[in-house]
Amino acid sequence: MEDKVFAEKEATSSNNSDTDRRPRFGNRILENPSKVFEHNAWDNVDWSDEMEEEGRRRVSENSKEQVSADLQMKYENECDIFWNNFYKIHQNRFFKDRHWLFTEFPELDDVEKNVSKGMDETMQPQNEYPGCRASKRIFEVGCGVGNTVYPILQTHNDDGIFIYCCDISELAIQLVKEHENYSQDRCYAFVGDITNEQIEYPFPEESLDVVILIFVLSAIHPNKFSATIRNICKYLKPGGLLLFRDYGRYDLAQLRFKKGHFLQDNFYVRGDGTRVYFFSQEELDEMFRKENLVKEQNYVDRRLQVNRGRQLKMYRVWIQCKYRKPFRKS
Ligand SMILES: C[S@@+](CC[C@H](N)C(=O)[O-])C[C@H]1O[C@@H](n2cnc3c(N)ncnc32)[C@H](O)[C@@H]1O
Repeated sequence: MEDKVFAEKEATSSNNSDTDRRPRFGNRILENPSKVFEHNAWDNVDWSDEMEEEGRRRVSENSKEQVSADLQMKYENECDIFWNNFYKIHQNRFFKDRHWLFTEFPELDDVEKNVSKGMDETMQPQNEYPGCRASKRIFEVGCGVGNTVYPILQTHNDDGIFIYCCDISELAIQLVKEHENYSQDRCYAFVGDITNEQIEYPFPEESLDVVILIFVLSAIHPNKFSATIRNICKYLKPGGLLLFRDYGRYDLAQLRFKKGHFLQDNFYVRGDGTRVYFFSQEELDEMFRKENLVKEQNYVDRRLQVNRGRQLKMYRVWIQCKYRKPFRKS
């Protein structure tokens, strides 16, 4: 983004507290601003007060004209159609495999150690359901075409781990199932709207070790955030983990919106009818705590991406959270 403040300011280190710092990643720190174009990306960049102020100014500017109530209703009611159209155009070419998955979420690399105790292999499940005999069950919500699912399946090449994944787009799920590595023995992909409390999940309550939400909560209406999280949490085992990564407030994508895309505070519609919300750490913390989840991480990942060819600096803001469902007190 070419802009006085956002294109020229850079900083040297994180302003996150040590406890919220990412444990394994984030170590390319820009210490000498004159070297900014020597790499494609820098981690943990600080934002100056001036940049924060400029972010506020741009958001206030692009929030001046609100999309009409009728159109807002259309985007909500036809959300599945807009996402289907998105996948008709982009097929499986838009999102890339999440290669950062295991550095940001090492819990997924070592599922056996890091999540709740699975079913004892000698125990018989009370009801038969797909994946009921797996020792660890993972559910990815809003999985798109499987850019998270397949790296996990490839990393854990054993039958102990079973992955469920759902998406509101029928076409996305069709593409997941057409993947050469799709196997019903290890994966169950289904079409589902996670905001719908009546959705029929293929697993019982308290059966999941991990729930993954990667760039999906931002795609649903903010009025439905809490109910959606509450509903999903019912399916986590006590001791199970919720992993979240999504857009943060004043990310480049938010500041780039022009007038005419604003739906409500920090919520916008793209040109193709898909919608996106930009979160703050505080509201996420409040939302997860309200569902009695316990914080393990709530981290703002501020990264400076560099287009070396065009000598552009682009400031990205993502929020990453890990919250655990506590064991019941006996
Ligand atoms: C930005 S994409 C991210 C896809 C995937 N998580 C990834 O990171 O590659 C958002 C996804 O959420 C899905 N989605 C949007 N609203 C949904 C809903 N209410 N229920 C289930 N999936 C939804 C969309 O179809 C889309 O695949």
